[in-house]
Amino acid sequence: KTCTLIGAPVQSGASQPGCVMGPDAYRTARLAETLRDLGHEVSDLGNVAHEPLQNVTHKNAAIHDLPQTVAWAVALEQAAFDAAQTSEMPIFLGGDHSLSIGTVPGVARHWQQHDRPLFVLWLDAHPDFHTLETTTSGNLHGTPVAYFSGLPGFEAYPKLAAPIDPANLCMLGIRSVDPAENAALDANSVDVSDMRAIDEHGIAAPLRAFLERVRAADGALHVSLDVDFLEPSIAPAVGTTVPGGATFREAHLVMEMLCDSGLVTSLDMVELNPFLDERGRTASLMVDLCASLMGRKVLDRQTRRF
Ligand code: ARG
Ligand code: MN
Ligand code: MN
Ligand code: MN
Repeated sequence: KTCTLIGAPVQSGASQPGCVMGPDAYRTARLAETLRDLGHEVSDLGNVAHEPLQNVTHKNAAIHDLPQTVAWAVALEQAAFDAAQTSEMPIFLGGDHSLSIGTVPGVARHWQQHDRPLFVLWLDAHPDFHTLETTTSGNLHGTPVAYFSGLPGFEAYPKLAAPIDPANLCMLGIRSVDPAENAALDANSVDVSDMRAIDEHGIAAPLRAFLERVRAADGALHVSLDVDFLEPSIAPAVGTTVPGGATFREAHLVMEMLCDSGLVTSLDMVELNPFLDERGRTASLMVDLCASLMGRKVLDRQTRRF
């Protein structure tokens, strides 16, 4: 495949600095070389830059860095739209999760032109389903999903060309949900598998059901992988650690099943904070997960019964 790496050094949506270094940590961990070794054609477009900040405000006094977030959203929406036009697999290197305020609407605008619905798989400890009214932390990385799903209360963010139908969302790994998010997820009937559901049923069952829905709708599929989806003991480089995350094998299995599905059309790799890493192990794990998504496997399963 033609893979395009797009650096999104966004950190204004998080509570602490460090995600600005994320794109270069992935480059240092040899993401491009790893994908080339798998037979892909890889180009690295470098990092996106945003326009000068505009004066944007909101009555919720907890919110910080709204002008930065909006400037990044505008720049990344266009970068994502352009990349989706020319590349079979745009890969956005974060950067905190507020970058999805731009990337998801950008790829959604592309697929709308091809009359294909965009589905989103959200791999995260958090649903990031706050509106600008409901966020109490004011950290805007907690808001992308509610925004791109077209919920009201986002007049301060760019107008959406192609909202994502909440029925086309799937969240896996969830284990930290604020009360307002819980109510909004219910009201919009979002397909959420929390860690309790994954403990009970395994991670393959909800993923398989979702992939069947994507295929039946002839959908495109954007995957948004937050480092905190993973158990913090294997992925310490994130500002919002929550115990009880996906194991090494659960995470790889998700990527392997996504690879086999052939449905994934774009990817965000977000929330890596290299300042918090241990000898690059989190960056390397994220690169290995991307490799599993892009075709690295132990055995060719085609000819095997198990
Ligand atoms: N729900 C919490 C908040 O709004 C945590 C959000 C964490 N989001 C993330 N992308 N890491 O502050
Ligand atoms: Mn096109
Ligand atoms: Mn997140
Ligand atoms: Mn998270």
